Amino acid sequence: MKTGFNRRSFLRNAGIGSGVLALGPLAASLATSTSASAADAAAFDTIANRVGHDSVKWDGALRNEKIDHVVAGMGIADMDFKAAPAITAALRKAVQYDNWGYIDMGQPSRKAWLKSIVDWNHKRYGITAMNEGNMGITTGVHAGILATMAAYSPAGSKVLLATPIYNGFYGDIRATKTVANESLMKMVNGRWEIDWNDFEAKASQPDTKVSILCNPQNPVGRAWTREELTRYGEICLKHNVLVLADEIHCDFISKGQKYIPFASLDNKAVVDNSITYKSVSKSFSLAGMKCAWFFTTNPEVYKATVFHNHADLNTLGMYAAEAAYAGGEGWLNDCVAYISDNHQFANDYIKKNIPMIKVGNAPEGTYLQWIDVSAIADKIGAKKMADDANQAAKDAASKMGTDYSGRQAMGEVRMQTPEDMVQHWLAKNAFVQLNSGTSYGLGGANHMRMNIATSRKTLKAALDSIAAATKKISA
Ligand SMILES: Cc1ncc(COP(=O)(O)O)c(C=O)c1O
Repeated sequence: MKTGFNRRSFLRNAGIGSGVLALGPLAASLATSTSASAADAAAFDTIANRVGHDSVKWDGALRNEKIDHVVAGMGIADMDFKAAPAITAALRKAVQYDNWGYIDMGQPSRKAWLKSIVDWNHKRYGITAMNEGNMGITTGVHAGILATMAAYSPAGSKVLLATPIYNGFYGDIRATKTVANESLMKMVNGRWEIDWNDFEAKASQPDTKVSILCNPQNPVGRAWTREELTRYGEICLKHNVLVLADEIHCDFISKGQKYIPFASLDNKAVVDNSITYKSVSKSFSLAGMKCAWFFTTNPEVYKATVFHNHADLNTLGMYAAEAAYAGGEGWLNDCVAYISDNHQFANDYIKKNIPMIKVGNAPEGTYLQWIDVSAIADKIGAKKMADDANQAAKDAASKMGTDYSGRQAMGEVRMQTPEDMVQHWLAKNAFVQLNSGTSYGLGGANHMRMNIATSRKTLKAALDSIAAATKKISA
C-alpha cells in the first residue's frame, strides 16, 4: 500500500478481527470505536499522497496540462486531507463482508441512518424543516437537482443564476435543454453581492421557472446572510420561480461567519417555495462515494422530485456517510477551522506577495477562492494565445473536413479563452493547476478559481511558486 499504512495493526487497534463481519448497526460501533480519535488541527498538516491514485485534482492536472510534476492541484473541489478516521475504520470494516447486492432501505439499521441525517441537520444547523418523511436519497447533488428540474424546468425555459456560479450547474442546464438566465453579481467593498434590480428583472421573465441558489456560493465564497436569502426567496416567490438551494458547501464557513440554511428562513411561504440538496461529499471529502440527499417542506415538489429521482445507492458511500456523522464531527470541526485559517493565509499572502493577482476580502465560506488574473492575462498576451489556439483548432478541423462551427454550436467544442491560457501558463510555469474562470458563467472572464483545501505547507509552496513565476513577467 502506497501510504505505508500497516493494515494488521490498524485492525487490531480498531478491535476488528479476521472473518466475515455482519454490517450491523455500524453507527453505534463507530461512535464508540473512533470518536476518541478525532483529529486535531495538526492532522491537516499531513495530506494523502494523491499522485498515482487517478485523482482529477493531481493526476488530472499532470495529464491535462502535460507537465511532469505538480506542486499543487488546486482545481476540482475536493480536499487533500486523509479521510476522518471514523470513515476509514467503517469502510475497512465493511469490506470484510464480501457481497455487494442491493440493500433493503426498510431495515431498522437503514432507517436509523436516515434518522441520523435528519438529527445531524437539526442539531448542527438548526434545520427543523427536515424530517424522515420529506427527504430523499440521491447519488449526488446533481442527481437531485436534475430530478427536480425534470419536473419544473421544461426544455427551453430559463434557470436563474446569480453569477459567477458553480460550473456544474451549466451541465445540469445543458442536460435539461434549458437556458441559463444569468444575473451578474457585483463586488461591493471587497465582497460579491447580488444586483437585486437585475436579479428581479430576470426572475420576472415568465419563462424563468427555477433558480439554483448556491449557499455558500461557489466560486466567490459568499456565506449569504439571512437578509440576502430572504430577499432572494421573496423575489423568487413573487415571480413564481422555484428555489433549488444547493447547500453542499454548508460546513465550510470562515471564522466570524454563519451558515444560514435557506429552509430556516422565517417566511414559511418562501421556504415552501424551495427544495434543499445536501451531502457529506464536500464536508468530509467523500465526493467519489456518491451519496447525497434532498428535502423540501412542499409536498408537491417532494413528490415530483421523488418521481424523477433514481434512488440508486452506493453501499460503501452510504456507510462512509453514516460513519462521518456518527464519528467524524470532531474531525470536521478541526477541518473547518483549518480551512478558515488557510483562507486568511492565502488571502494575506496574495495581497502581500503576488501583485499580479487581485483578491477581495478573504472568502466567507467554501474552500475555494476566486481570484482576478487579468494582469497575468495581459502580460502573457492571453487573448492572442487564445485566438491563435482557436484558429489552429479550426484549421485542423477543416483539414479533416469536420464541421467546426457546427460542433461548436452543439457545445461539443468550447472556444479557448484568455483564462484558459492563464490556466495553462500557470501549470507550465508555476506547476499549479487552478480552474479557468470561463466555465463559471457571466463574470468568469479574467478570473480563476483556486482550491485551498490542502496542507498549509502545500498551499504556501503553491503560492510561492505562483509568486516566483509571476515575478518573472511583472517587469
Ligand atoms: C455547489 C456544488 N454543487 C454540487 C457539486 C457536486 O455534487 P455531487 O458530486 O454530489 O453531484 C459541487 C462539486 O464541486 C459543488 O461545488
